[in-house]
Amino acid sequence: MAYETIIVEIADDVALITLNRPDALNALNSQLLGELASAVEEADASDKVRCIVLTGSEKAFAAGADIKEMADKSFVDMYRDNFFGVEADRFLRVRKPIIAAVSGYALGGGCELAMMCDFIIAADTAKFGQPEINLGVIAGIGGTQRLTRYVGKSKSMDMHLTGRFMNAEEAEESGLVSRVVAPKKLKDEAMAAAQKIAEKSLLATMAVKDTVNRAYETTLAEGINYERRMFQALFATEDQAEGMASYVEKREPQFRDK
Ligand code: HXC
Repeated sequence: MAYETIIVEIADDVALITLNRPDALNALNSQLLGELASAVEEADASDKVRCIVLTGSEKAFAAGADIKEMADKSFVDMYRDNFFGVEADRFLRVRKPIIAAVSGYALGGGCELAMMCDFIIAADTAKFGQPEINLGVIAGIGGTQRLTRYVGKSKSMDMHLTGRFMNAEEAEESGLVSRVVAPKKLKDEAMAAAQKIAEKSLLATMAVKDTVNRAYETTLAEGINYERRMFQALFATEDQAEGMASYVEKREPQFRDK
């Protein structure tokens, strides 16, 4: 499909999706989020894709939802259209791993989009924030819930109430991002991580995503029970037999997603 606000490139089993509204610092409007939801759904369904990387420009991953698009909307508009709820739910249904590669601003909906990915790799220029408070509103695609789970209540309240930005160092220390690299290395680092994931059994990587995300949705005992059953279920796959045989035989595994 031809897209106008994102660029999709597929190479070596990885779909690289680049947000591409440079004049608006990749502000998320309805068109962009609709195209992004379609692109990740296509990647999820494609035999050529085993992992997805989502990135922006050097200056901005995304500077938030498009304020110019939202400014004149009424409650009725927002509620009737379920503003960004539809696109967010489509994005969250993707079963293959998604890595966010963040350089520059990841603000408001941009920070929330990064947190909807499975993990975040950041350039040392990255700035995260939930500045919706300055616009007289609050986060609207998961920020109050996800940031709190990533970094804890105190820091999350601080970010949402003051609207201040968090730099890459603070984001790494507080667990929001998994690694920080130099800006020039960001894409390579994220692609290398994605390619490493793409070498594994897709059944196992999807099971990891499903099971780790379960930790957000359930009690510890239920989550552990879910993990145990999922672990046991993977013994029904050929990839488990191949993975363990390759270890015993001291060779590389040949996973076939079966
Ligand atoms: C629309 C935006 C935008 C946004 C930047 N632009 N962010 N347009 N929506 N969120 C546009 C600017 O209007 C400008 O275009 C161009 O991008 C460059 O931005 P500048 O402000 O000139 O750049 P700079 O001075 O470097 O400042 C960068 C910035 C600032 C600090 C990121 O742009 C900024 O504060 N942006 C808004 C951040 C924000 O409040 N995000 C939260 C949005 S609410 P023009 O044509 O005007 O020159 C949200 C809610 C999510 O995300 C929930 C939804 C359901």
